[in-house]
Amino acid sequence: MNLTRRSFIKKSTMAASAMGTITILPRRVWSASVAPSDKVNVALIGCNNMGFGILGHHLDTQMVNCVALCDVDKNVLNAKAQEVKNRYGQQPVLYGDYRQVLERNDVDAVIIGTPDHWHCLIMVDACQAGKDVYVEKPMANTIGECNIMVKAAKKYQRVVQVGQQQRDSKVFKDVMNLIKSGEIGKLRKVNIWANFNYGLGAIPRPDSEVPPGVDYDMWLGPAPKRQFNPNRFHGSWRHFWDYGGGLMSDWGVHLIDMGLWITDLVEGPEKVITYAANLCPKTMHRDTFDTMNVIFPKKDYVITWDMTAGIQQGPFDSSYGVQFIGDNATICADRLKYRLYPEWDEEKKTPKAKAVSYDKGSESHRQHVDNFLHCVKSRETPSCPPEVGRAAALHAHISNIAGRVEQTVLEWDDVNNRFINCERANELIFPEYRKPWHLPEI
Ligand SMILES: NC(=O)c1ccc[n+]([C@@H]2O[C@H](COP(=O)([O-])OP(=O)(O)OC[C@H]3O[C@@H](n4cnc5c(N)ncnc54)[C@H](O)[C@@H]3O)[C@@H](O)[C@H]2O)c1
Repeated sequence: MNLTRRSFIKKSTMAASAMGTITILPRRVWSASVAPSDKVNVALIGCNNMGFGILGHHLDTQMVNCVALCDVDKNVLNAKAQEVKNRYGQQPVLYGDYRQVLERNDVDAVIIGTPDHWHCLIMVDACQAGKDVYVEKPMANTIGECNIMVKAAKKYQRVVQVGQQQRDSKVFKDVMNLIKSGEIGKLRKVNIWANFNYGLGAIPRPDSEVPPGVDYDMWLGPAPKRQFNPNRFHGSWRHFWDYGGGLMSDWGVHLIDMGLWITDLVEGPEKVITYAANLCPKTMHRDTFDTMNVIFPKKDYVITWDMTAGIQQGPFDSSYGVQFIGDNATICADRLKYRLYPEWDEEKKTPKAKAVSYDKGSESHRQHVDNFLHCVKSRETPSCPPEVGRAAALHAHISNIAGRVEQTVLEWDDVNNRFINCERANELIFPEYRKPWHLPEI
């Protein structure tokens, strides 16, 4: 996007907001047939798995130039650069330090696909540098970092999309519409289950030399210094508190988000009742829990979380899913399908709702990326802004904190960002950044 276009957007936004209208740029300005110079220039930071998938969805729109790839592992960086060249005919410049990417004036937006412990620093630096951001979920690895990121997006007026792509899924949009239109009657419960083998972590392996081509100090970044261990690296880092929150935050943010979206809640939980343990007899390498049940009481309904790592089967023919229970009907949903099961009206001898069945759903990363790109251009608020990402992440992080401090009931003051009834939990709100990195101040 060139500077002329940027100032045009800014002027349009200001003029439209002065008139109290929503800013929507004419679609044709942004059609796929625009000149390459009008495409959005994106850079990917953290290229291995999900980040690269998300970049692919950007490039598939044909509305995007990939101008830079950044990874601290040269093996990943070179392989992904080759793939971008082969699949899309583009040759981004390659970097090992994201700060050099942010110095480039031609980068409009960055995709952050690093492990969770890096999200906050890179996102805040990107916002400061005037870039829009697609940051993978969970928004950050701690409560304190989530709060900082919400402030940064506001202060620097950036478009920030958190990678909770179910917000753009046909299945879950349908489910939200059915429930919000009253189809299942008064909502009473949102029961969530998540069973995944990978949640147990990896088979223990000894510490080893850092693989050639890896800048391990930069991979650790603000996290504590440690000897390299392959289990704490690509992919399986998510089972260690220094970098992730296990299944609870990996899947929790996606699924609990559905229980918050249904009533448009964008706050952390007032109260969390948690059972967290390691009950699987296998010896695996991880910090995080393999078994968790959590109750999140809401004003007039309840969300429950039922998680079992090392188990892959679940009800509704799915390892994960969400069950919405209302007075008139129950809806079960996963990413591919949903069913509405009506209650029976004894007096009228009719079902209390219309049975619905849909099984043509799909993963919705592409739709989530479309929404992000639309918002980059229109300056509208994306489908999963930082406030929404924060609310989901806090539900996951507070449950993990309850397990870590071994306190069943935690009470959270979302205005003052403090636990009311546990000082040890308060100590886990912020991470301690390893020097020379500093927790950003906004
Ligand atoms: N939305 C979803 O459905 C979904 C699914 C999977 C993963 N994710 C999220 O995507 C993120 C990445 O997960 P993954 O499974 O791809 O992890 P991964 O370990 O496979 O990839 C992370 C990459 O980031 C690189 N990296 C680490 N620090 C870096 C830094 N400072 N600068 C540049 N690169 C750096 C690593 O070298 C690695 O190549 C996580 O936040 C994860 O939770 C989201």
